[in-house]
Amino acid sequence: MQSSVFVQRRRQLMAALQPDSVVLISAAREQSRSRDTAYPFRQHSDFWYYSGFNEPDALLILSNRADLPAAQLLCREKDPAQEVWHGRRLGPAAASDVLQLQATARSEQASMLNQALNGSRAVYLNLTEQPELLAQITAQMQVLKQREKRGERAPSQLIDLAPLSAAQRLIKDDNEIAIMRQAGQISAQAHIRAMQCCRPGRFEYQLEAEILHHFASNGARYPAYNSIVGSGNNGCILHYTDNSSEMTAGDLVLIDAGCELQGYAADISRTFPVNGKFSEDQAALYQLVLDAQYAACNAVKPGGNFATVTAAAEQVLTEGLLGLGILQGELTQLIADKACKQYFIHGIGHWLGLDVHDVGAYKAENPQGQSSEQSFVPGMVLTIEPGLYIPAGSPTEPRWWDLAVRIEDNLLITKDGHENLTTAVPKEIAAIEQLMATANVS
Ligand code: GLY
Ligand code: MN
Ligand code: MN
Repeated sequence: MQSSVFVQRRRQLMAALQPDSVVLISAAREQSRSRDTAYPFRQHSDFWYYSGFNEPDALLILSNRADLPAAQLLCREKDPAQEVWHGRRLGPAAASDVLQLQATARSEQASMLNQALNGSRAVYLNLTEQPELLAQITAQMQVLKQREKRGERAPSQLIDLAPLSAAQRLIKDDNEIAIMRQAGQISAQAHIRAMQCCRPGRFEYQLEAEILHHFASNGARYPAYNSIVGSGNNGCILHYTDNSSEMTAGDLVLIDAGCELQGYAADISRTFPVNGKFSEDQAALYQLVLDAQYAACNAVKPGGNFATVTAAAEQVLTEGLLGLGILQGELTQLIADKACKQYFIHGIGHWLGLDVHDVGAYKAENPQGQSSEQSFVPGMVLTIEPGLYIPAGSPTEPRWWDLAVRIEDNLLITKDGHENLTTAVPKEIAAIEQLMATANVS
């Protein structure tokens, strides 16, 4: 993404602040995995969103004050001895140029922070995610307060940045949409590869490996979250990531996997038979989840919201579960009681973006302070992911036990409705069976 995109985002944020304010955002830290090894570095999403800078040990200072630069970055200095061990650093001189801001060595942090806080009316930072920065700022504010008789001025307000950055990140611009379209495409193809490679006797982690291989081979080095490959009753564990079982003919396998591309997540779930052919009961339960997914997707359009989408899915699931005899009772009452929630135990979906469970409010507040559902508007991206999970011992016939189905797509709200970003991976029963029957990947 070009640096002008980040400049534009910073301008938009500055316009939403109180006058004479400053915004502080810390970069993510490197995380130790075990002695002398670290997890792959992942930048803090807000920091990335406003800077485009992918190093740890950095601080972004944005301001709408006339006497401060609009954007300053404190970052690691060039250091040949460190770089030969741990990798290249951009360094302040190149960072100023590349990122279109004023970059300074990290060693200047104390004085820069003091300069940014002194005379600012309000300080915006993420109050829950960046406790170390909060502690630093609070300490600096105390120093400034003590020096007020010398003419220094401590900010009078600490304001949570999260709602502002979340509102901005919730609406994706054309650059983000192009990347998310590509992330959806790569992830869809990875699911196709998993379907083609699936055989009884293979292990779940081997399908995971096929997926990760496809991600990285197509420019998405990392998954957006740990891939879930759950066969048989492992599918009933929502965040199953052991992926350690051998897959058995006659079982379904539920895969929830998406790549991260330039920071943006895809998030796809598909469920298919290990041996390529649905049994009658598996097909019945699967078709029900698919019908619910279509009903939910049909409700995804401007003016809709997560409540209307949820209601559409729950109506179909409840009717279907009643039809299959998995629920018993009277339909209207079952819907009123939300009886399907016994087997549909998570939400219908979530915002998607730089984080897989992306930021963005689910409720909006009107000027009278009343809370209402956040309406969909063009540029939002969300998942639609109904599922049914029937663990052994559930109060239904044992033939349904241990079945788990989730079908998840990523939808962009457009002015006319939505665009499904992950439609390339089949979800119709016949299409899945045909793909698996004709697979020639060994
Ligand atoms: N992959 C996590 C989720 O579907 O929410
Ligand atoms: Mn998912
Ligand atoms: Mn999801």
